[in-house]
Amino acid sequence: MSDETRFLRPDAIIEPLVDGFYGWLHTVAPVQAAMNLALVQVPLLESYLQSPQVHINASGNPALRGGFFVNIGESRMGEVRELLATIKRDRAELLGFAAAVAEAEELLRSSATGFDLTPLYPKLPSALSGMVELAYDTSNQAAVRFIEPLVYESSIYTEDRQSVQLSLETGVERPFILSTPRLGAPDVLDLRIPFRHPGLEVLFRSRVHGTTLRRLREVLELDDDDTTAVSRLLAEQPDLSDDRHIQSGARIRYFNHACLVLQTPEASIITDPWVSADASATDRFTYRDLPDHIDLALISHGHQDHIVLETLLALRGRIGAVVVPRSSRGNLADPSIALYLSHLGLPVVEVDDFSEVKFPGGTVTATPFLGEHCDLDIRAKSTYYVRLGDRTIFVGADSSGIDPGLYRSMRRHLGQVDIAFLGMECAGAPLTWLYQGLFTRPVTKRMSDSRTLSGSNAEQAAGIMTELGASEAYVYAMGEESWLGHVMATSYSDDSYQLKQVAEFMTWCADHGIKTEHLLGQREWHL
Ligand SMILES: [Fe+2]
Ligand SMILES: [Fe+2]
Repeated sequence: MSDETRFLRPDAIIEPLVDGFYGWLHTVAPVQAAMNLALVQVPLLESYLQSPQVHINASGNPALRGGFFVNIGESRMGEVRELLATIKRDRAELLGFAAAVAEAEELLRSSATGFDLTPLYPKLPSALSGMVELAYDTSNQAAVRFIEPLVYESSIYTEDRQSVQLSLETGVERPFILSTPRLGAPDVLDLRIPFRHPGLEVLFRSRVHGTTLRRLREVLELDDDDTTAVSRLLAEQPDLSDDRHIQSGARIRYFNHACLVLQTPEASIITDPWVSADASATDRFTYRDLPDHIDLALISHGHQDHIVLETLLALRGRIGAVVVPRSSRGNLADPSIALYLSHLGLPVVEVDDFSEVKFPGGTVTATPFLGEHCDLDIRAKSTYYVRLGDRTIFVGADSSGIDPGLYRSMRRHLGQVDIAFLGMECAGAPLTWLYQGLFTRPVTKRMSDSRTLSGSNAEQAAGIMTELGASEAYVYAMGEESWLGHVMATSYSDDSYQLKQVAEFMTWCADHGIKTEHLLGQREWHL
């Protein structure tokens, strides 16, 4: 059997882990990962070990869904203790780096008073030497700027932290990725290899381009037991939908959340790739439905529901280029998405506002993205105008309509939009929910609650539609699909503000002759 052609099953999944915690931008990019380790993950594990029952009870309480509680039964407490001890022993340098960042920020707070910063350099902690610059803005507010490519080259970025878990999708909701580390499980194969490992590309390409078990054993450097485990992920025949490609016209498919697949016979584009591997489900598109080759993957921003590493790793080798918005280069809150994904072996094209990327038969233009980042100075975010056939599609992701004037300018620059996809998660989580690991000085609850991860409400979405002049509006990126819980941890009810706002927006659309729908699960349009 080892030399016969085999194909990866559609329900095989890869979970990327960093010291046991799920991998996303702020647990992989080195500066942010060190900060999160020191200020979020270690304290979380310590808190669990002190009072496991509090964490277990909270994890089972729907009202606390998405909270920072470790959802691991007491019988496995020893493994958590071991994980924490390993982190403290093996990642001492990273924890020291995070402490150095806090010290540098404190130095700036006390000594950067608008005068020459040169005397502060010798006072910086040695861990930061050669990796930072100090600078004022024009209001004389000083900040540390990280020379991020150098941090990736330093021992602060260590691929030793990375491992992957390979398994078959069970359909059972996984624990919330931001709070609960993944331990081993009987049907899960743990491989201590970095995310960019070339063997993973061979494995995941074999959904379409078959391979052999012998080759997988070789490229993934597997022992006998691991080879047997990998063989369980394989099938004799490819399992792909016949209609995954189209012969004429253009098609858009909504896969879930912010993930759309836009296709013509010549090309295909995926937005914020996030694909379900539940092959038994009939209410959604899955890996079976993806075109064999995807020309461009458009990334809107760095939130964990928009760069879903497990989908990107599963598609490596099938994507021509991942289009990512450029960061501000070095701001602690704004890690470079381009550096992050290129270190994971993905082909990246970095875009600024109004940069154009061509694909066969069309053009993508990066357009500004407003708000939804708790008023932090984060530039690595973009919306997109996609010209497909004779239509212009606006991919709005979580961008909000705080200032409709932006959309007026976009229309002036780029023309009218036909179809708009708008994110309306308009009562998003507060500042500290996602960014607490980056704050070296406590943020008050009142301040945090006032700064949220919110997309457009009804009035803002209506403003966007008016300015763009679009005749169709589709509300998406709400995190409502049942299979997204481990990342989204949303819990909407009929009374939820967000759903009422969506209803209000849809009424407004109907009153203004705009075709509209609130997307959920699966949808397709032929253009
Ligand atoms: Fe977001
Ligand atoms: Fe989002």
